Amino acid sequence: MCGIIGFTGSKQVAPILLEGLARMEYRGYDSAGIAVAGREKILLAKVSGKVSGLFEKTDNGAALPGTCGIGHTRWATHGAPTEANAHPQISQNGKFAVCHNGIIENFAVLKKELQDKGYVFTSQTDTETIAHLLEDNDTGDFQETVEKTLDKIEGSYALAIACSDHPGTLFAVKKNSPLILGAGDGFNMFASDVTALVSHTREAVYLEDGQYAKVTPEGISLFAEDGTPLPLKTTHVDLSITVAEKGGYEHFMMKEIMEQPEAVERALKPRLKDGEIVLDDFELTPETLKKLNKIVITACGSAYYAGLAGKYAIEKLCRIPVDVQLASELRYCDPLIDEHTLLIVLSQSGETLDTVAALKECKSRGATVLAIVNVVGSFIARLADSVLYTWAGPEVAVATTKGYTTQLAVLYLFAVYAARVMGKLSDGEYAALQDELKRLPVAMREALKLDCDMENLSDHFKAAEHVFFLGRNTDSALAMEGALKLKEISYIHAEAYAAGELKHGTIALIEDGTPVVALCCNTSLLEKTMSNIIEVKARGAVVTALVPEGAEGTEAAYTYADRCVAVPALRDIFASIAAVVPLQLLAYHTAKARGCSIDKPKNLAKSVTVE
Ligand code: F6R
Repeated sequence: MCGIIGFTGSKQVAPILLEGLARMEYRGYDSAGIAVAGREKILLAKVSGKVSGLFEKTDNGAALPGTCGIGHTRWATHGAPTEANAHPQISQNGKFAVCHNGIIENFAVLKKELQDKGYVFTSQTDTETIAHLLEDNDTGDFQETVEKTLDKIEGSYALAIACSDHPGTLFAVKKNSPLILGAGDGFNMFASDVTALVSHTREAVYLEDGQYAKVTPEGISLFAEDGTPLPLKTTHVDLSITVAEKGGYEHFMMKEIMEQPEAVERALKPRLKDGEIVLDDFELTPETLKKLNKIVITACGSAYYAGLAGKYAIEKLCRIPVDVQLASELRYCDPLIDEHTLLIVLSQSGETLDTVAALKECKSRGATVLAIVNVVGSFIARLADSVLYTWAGPEVAVATTKGYTTQLAVLYLFAVYAARVMGKLSDGEYAALQDELKRLPVAMREALKLDCDMENLSDHFKAAEHVFFLGRNTDSALAMEGALKLKEISYIHAEAYAAGELKHGTIALIEDGTPVVALCCNTSLLEKTMSNIIEVKARGAVVTALVPEGAEGTEAAYTYADRCVAVPALRDIFASIAAVVPLQLLAYHTAKARGCSIDKPKNLAKSVTVE
């Protein structure tokens, strides 16, 4: 969420900034703006709402002449998504423009000091503080002014700074928020996301936390937090622009749902070699794994639900306790973590702020950190002791699908690998589990054939006010992901419940006609879940049951549930990866039937880099 772009060269910059902002739209935002640093003053255009409004307002950029500027898409944190609160924010004398991602923690103190000096604030943002601070610290030397200002601010941020006294020069600053520099020929630029760079350059410089850069058309100078000059290390970026396009589907979400078998295959196949699991990129030694006394998994949202599902596989195979914690809670709970703890951090984006903070907290207590992330070179990947990439490819839809299933796939793979290293698997069982892992993409391909059925089923859900998702064990973790998908894109209230918990209170909410999705994919608990289906049926629920195709004991589901959806059968511990597919499709078609904005649901952001 929130996207920053900066560009300085010889071409008119406003259209370039607008195009870059449009490419970063998928990150989620609610207002946008650009500023061009001219010789006399900063030229500014901002809108509340979409980047398309900014195109209109500026005549596709033509209205703002100049070759050096910055732009921003904002996801509101301090103050409503109004034009006044949109970035860039401008200093009182109109000379400095600032775009900012993240949060300035000491902004209230700084604001008070600046107000006492006579600065008048026109927005509710913490960012405006930086603009006025730049003016207050202006020495005439742009770099010195920026350094003096950075010394005063605390928090996590990425900043883009322009000044009309120094047209052609920009500063880019990174601290706990993503920012990547792009090196070009006759121009240089930076952005929060490589997708905004690749139509101009493929030579990227990944800034580390605390570093800042002076960017001019002629070159980039990189500096450490204390101002020490640093060498530039460029990395060639391979991502094609078309890769991020919809590939013929109406929505990115559907494209990404359909890509899942290939994505999971990509995550697993190269690591299943000649009867062994080979993790070339895994740096934790067998000795480290053998000394562990517990594993903690941390993540947010869907990644957290992937962690809950992964727990069952790891505990079952490795016989080691696995604690799954929300990153936003773990960071503040004085966690019981030591050097015998393995912390597994799950993140598609690799930049979720709460997850980063939990990682740092646990690392400082001695945990060994394994990151399972999708975005290569992302912040979490760089902080971890070892990384297993999920290789899902870029995920554009805000609601994760292939991000989630590739996380599951890598967790399953890790579970089998670690169990083998820990001496918990016989040769036969190790081989059988590898065969099952190879079957996952096949089962997912089968599950995608349920698309039409799910589209038909969405008819029964589209007018619902509440939907319940029930399941036990692995199915209870799956229920949470199914409910979240429906909530976030169709805006129907959905509640996930461990099926055995219903009678401890929630069953009172089941009424005549309440839609219930009962997950019966864990065959060892079929009978138990069946009793819960009977309980809710007795209160009037209309039950859709997901049952493993051809599995023993599923006949009762066909008797008691109103309808059954047969999903490809897998071992219980791996069942969620195929069973989630119809749940994603159900959420998608229900949202579509309700006319919702599927790829960019309201109030949600793709990458959550604020607390
Ligand atoms: C839901 C969704 C979010 C993310 C969560 C963590 O569909 O996408 O719940 O799973 O914000 O994001 P990452 O995995 O990027 O850390």
